Amino acid sequence: MTRVAIIGAGPSGLAALRAFEAAHGGGAEIPELVCYEKQADWGGQWNFSWRTGLDEYGEPVHSSMYRNLWSNGPKEGLEFADYTFDEHFGRPTSSYPPRPVLWDYIAGRVEKGDVRKYIRFETAVRWVSYDEATGEFTVTSQHLPSGGDVSETFDYVIVASGHFSFPNFPAFAGIETFLGPVTHAHDFRGAEGLRDKNVLVIGSSYSAEDIGSQAYKMGAASVTASYRTSPMGYDWPDGFEERPGIDHFDGNTVHFVDGSSKEIDAVILCTGYLHKYPFLPEELGLVSPNNVYPEGLYRGVVWNDNPKVFYIGAQDQWFTFNMFDAQAWYVRDLILGRIPMPDRATREESMAEWKQRFLAIADASAEIRFQGDYVQDLIDQTDYPRFDVDGVVEIFQAWKKDKAKDIMGYRDYTYTSVMTGTSSVPHHTRWLAELDDSLERYLGTPAQS
Ligand SMILES: Cc1cc2nc3c(=O)[nH]c(=O)nc-3n(C[C@H](O)[C@H](O)[C@H](O)COP(=O)(O)OP(=O)(O)OC[C@H]3O[C@@H](n4cnc5c(N)ncnc54)[C@H](O)[C@@H]3O)c2cc1C
Ligand SMILES: NC(=O)c1ccc[n+]([C@@H]2O[C@H](COP(=O)([O-])OP(=O)(O)OC[C@H]3O[C@@H](n4cnc5c(N)ncnc54)[C@H](OP(=O)(O)O)[C@@H]3O)[C@@H](O)[C@H]2O)c1
Repeated sequence: MTRVAIIGAGPSGLAALRAFEAAHGGGAEIPELVCYEKQADWGGQWNFSWRTGLDEYGEPVHSSMYRNLWSNGPKEGLEFADYTFDEHFGRPTSSYPPRPVLWDYIAGRVEKGDVRKYIRFETAVRWVSYDEATGEFTVTSQHLPSGGDVSETFDYVIVASGHFSFPNFPAFAGIETFLGPVTHAHDFRGAEGLRDKNVLVIGSSYSAEDIGSQAYKMGAASVTASYRTSPMGYDWPDGFEERPGIDHFDGNTVHFVDGSSKEIDAVILCTGYLHKYPFLPEELGLVSPNNVYPEGLYRGVVWNDNPKVFYIGAQDQWFTFNMFDAQAWYVRDLILGRIPMPDRATREESMAEWKQRFLAIADASAEIRFQGDYVQDLIDQTDYPRFDVDGVVEIFQAWKKDKAKDIMGYRDYTYTSVMTGTSSVPHHTRWLAELDDSLERYLGTPAQS
């Protein structure tokens, strides 16, 4: 029997399991599946950990999420086409759920089926090798609680280990003289401790924006965001400002390249993440900056140098859960032989064409459109439930405008699902005033907000 190894049970690995389960439900014979997950539960990034650095087994802690993290895009942009929010909650809810709510939604879909049996929890993949002679992969994994390791052979490997876990941690001149805490966004777990502090976030993307906003929400004395290339440019509230790149630190004074300086108490590097696959040999490992068209992947999922290796979720992400589904259904159909694997020349022709389109992307709006076209291209080839991808592109375009209008209030806005036509309802409490991120609170109707 064909055997498939899936590395990771986050949204991408779970999408792969769901894709095979859906085919099985339709009467198809499916391969033997083994999904390795180093955490004790599924959900990937959405499985919050209070730990930082290394976990109880000495493994790098995977999740970069924090208490108080809310979705930074409307849930109508990420909704699964085969499991809607209406089905999960049974009634309209607000558009920006906090982390535990999205974890619940992710889990709800897979709990409905029977995929947990395929997952080996607390089991880290240590190494994958490929034998040209047999055409098989050997996957060596370690059960973390017992320390026992096992090597098994597979016909295909699906890499779904995520790429927002290994910090990009640059150095800045004089930072060793700074006397307060210096952390990377990966280790940030909540902003309560930043109350009354002057906070410096370095970076100008989502982590800088959201961690800076969390610090503001939790009562920081000031928030300064330092950009390397261009400012975020939002209409920030008083006490939140953007400054250019850092020239050097001198004790607790940070000097910026424009000659200005500021006294600060805490530094958080929001400088992004590295694609890192320590369990893969060089010839199978993706090397790329964080972008929407990583090099070496045919149709964004097939490792061109060995088309029996697949990556799901390797792109920078406007679309998330439903894009992982589109990828998983497509990979599944390649493995099941429903879609023939094109020869190398054909794959390279397609990759060159998409790369041209990628290089022509002029701005964020065009990048969203590019990713929408990519998702549509995959969905067109499988039986993943059709949905209005253009409608989701429009939701993301509207979301960008809403953020530009109201950066501290955009999470109070509502959108309409392209899957069900259901309009979301405003959350009972404005995001800026809401300090309880629990599922119960999200679904509750407090008498007083
Ligand atoms: C701080 C932060 C906030 C985000 N917020 C949003 C948001 O609001 N909305 C949104 O749509 N997306 C958000 N994202 C994007 C997020 O990447 C996706 O939502 C999603 O979690 C990606 O799923 P994944 O399965 O590809 O990767 P992950 O969620 O990272 O899951 C990968 C899984 O692989 C496992 N794994 C890794 N290495 C091994 C190994 N060697 N052996 C076994 N298992 C392994 C990990 O334990 C993990 O469970 C956010 C990301 C971050 C970092
Ligand atoms: N739900 C939420 O609220 C939430 C919160 C945080 C993160 N996220 C998600 O997490 C993912 C990662 O986002 P991210 O912001 O961590 O990473 P990112 O989008 O890759 O951005 C990295 C940032 O680091 C900057 N940078 C890199 N090296 C630098 C250096 N040497 N000096 C100064 N700046 C440097 C980059 O600046 P340049 O522009 O100059 O390259 C960029 O602004 C995204 O998918 C995002 O949606 C979501």
